[in-house]
Amino acid sequence: MQRRALITGVTGQDGSYLAELLVSKGYAVHGLRRRSSTFGTERIEHLIRGNEPCVHLHYGDLSDASGLARLIRQIRPHEVYNLAAQSHVRVSFDQPAYTADVTAVGTLRLLEALRDVQDDTGEQIRFYQASSSEMFGKVVETPQKETTPFYPRSPYGVAKVYAHWITVNYRESYDLHASCGILFNHESPRRGETFVTRKITRAAARIKLGMQDKLYLGNLDAQRDWGFAGDYVEAMWLMLQQPTADDYVVAMNELHTVREFCELSFGRLGLDYNDFVEIDPRYFRPAEVDLLLGDATKGRTKLGWTPRVSFQELVEMMVDSDLELARRERGLAGTSASLDRMAA
Ligand code: NAP
Ligand code: GDD
Repeated sequence: MQRRALITGVTGQDGSYLAELLVSKGYAVHGLRRRSSTFGTERIEHLIRGNEPCVHLHYGDLSDASGLARLIRQIRPHEVYNLAAQSHVRVSFDQPAYTADVTAVGTLRLLEALRDVQDDTGEQIRFYQASSSEMFGKVVETPQKETTPFYPRSPYGVAKVYAHWITVNYRESYDLHASCGILFNHESPRRGETFVTRKITRAAARIKLGMQDKLYLGNLDAQRDWGFAGDYVEAMWLMLQQPTADDYVVAMNELHTVREFCELSFGRLGLDYNDFVEIDPRYFRPAEVDLLLGDATKGRTKLGWTPRVSFQELVEMMVDSDLELARRERGLAGTSASLDRMAA
């Protein structure tokens, strides 16, 4: 029987890679999309167009409990991946209540819907929760692993801690097959443009082509453990294939600074970042997470998960992709004739 999966956050970076992975494995893939005045489906266009789309989209929102319950009853998924969230740490300081409602309570709403359907039908639904290394915040040990205590440093981090523990609680209380992936930062050419890696690669490419003069950043000394999103979604899927649900850290176990990311990105284009990067205090956070370094030994051993893309390859992939994008944009900005051709 064909397995059915529902992905919340399917229009996001991870949602798009996970949808591709599940389609390639033969799943019937359903995705939750929220209503917006624009399409917002750029990352999954190739999966939703044509006579036989690979991914079926449904309107819904993590703030709407009854809509979520209806959708779960309608689709009767075997696996649910909860990737939807207000996922920007800096924005969570400006929108703390909204972040709590969507990222924390939204997870509870979804779990409640699953619990009801599982109770009624007796069919087990496997659940993946997108937990985050941001929960470790002001880290109490390094590297961080599954047993490291949380010390969140942002409304986003606090919301993710709630979502994490409510998932664990539903696993222990209602026998749900619910797993949390504590994922460290993962990036790709599809990364949102306001996260630091993509902001850097996008700007470096535009500067190279003379389309931009400067790049304004905040804390260049922050240290992160960056991996490739395409590798990380494989770990999500592997977690739901295990006989028993559990929680896993997913990371590269490598530390790099934002400054180093700048150096490598500009260097790839033959530029020195010192000539273009300026500090703007607006991009500093009220409370910063200085260092995140993950120990993914448990996931590598129990899941057999192995990342394929190195840090250096990730930077190069992102820079090359953004250079292509900038070239296309420069072409488009040319004459109205070229715009007409694009429209056709
Ligand atoms: P992303 O690109 O920001 O995608 C977030 C997704 O959530 C988008 O599809 C977004 O829809 C959707 N969404 C936002 N608010 C929603 C709401 N109220 N109802 C329904 N959908 C909503 O994030 P990502 O990088 O793919 O990350 C996926 C998940 O992993 C997130 O939960 C994130 O917090 C978590 N995570 C990410 C990382 C990382 O480094 N990328 C690390 C650890 C954990 P729109 O397209 O309409 O905005
Ligand atoms: N966004 C941003 N913009 N960050 C900057 C900038 C800037 O101009 N300048 C410096 N930084 C620093 C931030 O202060 C932070 O220390 C680091 O770069 C990474 O910032 P982000 O790329 O925004 O990622 P994040 O680590 O805060 O959050 C991401 O990773 C989490 C996992 O640890 C997000 O994807 C979260 O959703 C995810 O949970």
